[in-house]
Amino acid sequence: MKLLAIETSCDETAISILDVKKISEKHTFKILADNINSQVKIHAEYGGVFPALAKREHQINLPILFEKTIKEAKIKIEGIDLIVVTSGPGLEPALWTGIVFAKEISDKYKIPVLGVNHMEGHIFSIFPKKGKTFKIDQEKNIFPMLSLLVSGGHTELILIKSWKKYKKIGQTRDDAVGEAFDKVARMLGLPYPGGPEIGKLAQEARTHKINPNFTLPRPMMYTKDYEFSFSGLKTAVLYHIRDLKEKNPDILNDIRIKQMIAREFEDACFEVLSYKTMKALKEYKINTLIIGGGVSAAPQLKKVIKENLKNNKLKIKTHFPGKGHTGDNSIMIGIAGYFQYKNKKYSKNSKPIKAEGNLSL
Ligand code: KG4
Ligand code: ZN
Repeated sequence: MKLLAIETSCDETAISILDVKKISEKHTFKILADNINSQVKIHAEYGGVFPALAKREHQINLPILFEKTIKEAKIKIEGIDLIVVTSGPGLEPALWTGIVFAKEISDKYKIPVLGVNHMEGHIFSIFPKKGKTFKIDQEKNIFPMLSLLVSGGHTELILIKSWKKYKKIGQTRDDAVGEAFDKVARMLGLPYPGGPEIGKLAQEARTHKINPNFTLPRPMMYTKDYEFSFSGLKTAVLYHIRDLKEKNPDILNDIRIKQMIAREFEDACFEVLSYKTMKALKEYKINTLIIGGGVSAAPQLKKVIKENLKNNKLKIKTHFPGKGHTGDNSIMIGIAGYFQYKNKKYSKNSKPIKAEGNLSL
């Protein structure tokens, strides 16, 4: 079957067309066309995503991207069997643009349309590999799975007993980890998005053996639950910079100081994320670990998780998204939508899709 997938939850407009074939329990996905238009540069000026601007950009980009995608896929619109679109979580004005656009095509060409959870998409983002095709085998021994989802809006641990059964076992009480990276980057005068910038400085510190001369808290690391908190950590960085500036207002011109702060901050975040992930892996006797979301692009997170798995003697299959699939994209929405359709969560009498900014798994 041919699927049109649309993603507009934040600052990327993404459209793709997938051709999926099922043979016994194996699903083969072929990417016929995949296009993405990032608004990162536009929002960088504001130091974060500006919802009204995101909405306007999506509205401009959607028809252009759709036409391009259809052309590249070399199919007629009538040849599409299913439309899937992100319905939440995300910025509601941005989500609506995708939903309205999907509905218009659905009504005009009489194609069924399904709303997809963006976070479920991030879980499926580990499947696409290099090249245009990938397979998903619904073998049983991969469950139970655990997914650590880390992005600009979310930080959560999801227990997956089957592709239909998700249970959130913990989440952040305040800022998402990516959000904390973006805010700390801003304090250091680095551009948005801050994650890769902090990562680069932190890595320079490690390479040149620049060890932090201060320590940041590891918030909620040893609490019995699976909750996280990154707001206090961000404030601790703020106070540290303020104290340094009191002695020397130009202190941030010293690159070594920035490298030190970046390293200590990144270590604090990833140690906490990894510690709680290990705890959940043991408690729930997990067979597969999936890391997803924008922050999963950080090489240091991969390193810390791998080290901790080894230190804890946990031999668990661990998957990170491939290059180009860590951030928001529509392929992941296509996969999640396809399985939702296959699992019959769709009927002609389903309620109309609406944008749900706080939709939860
Ligand atoms: O999943 P995503 O593209 O969008 C949301 O749904 O939020 O995640 C974006 C977030 C941003 O906060 C960005 O700073 C962070 O992911 N990020 C990183 C890295 N690359 C992106 N954080 C840490 N290290 C990175 N290398
Ligand atoms: Zn996302």
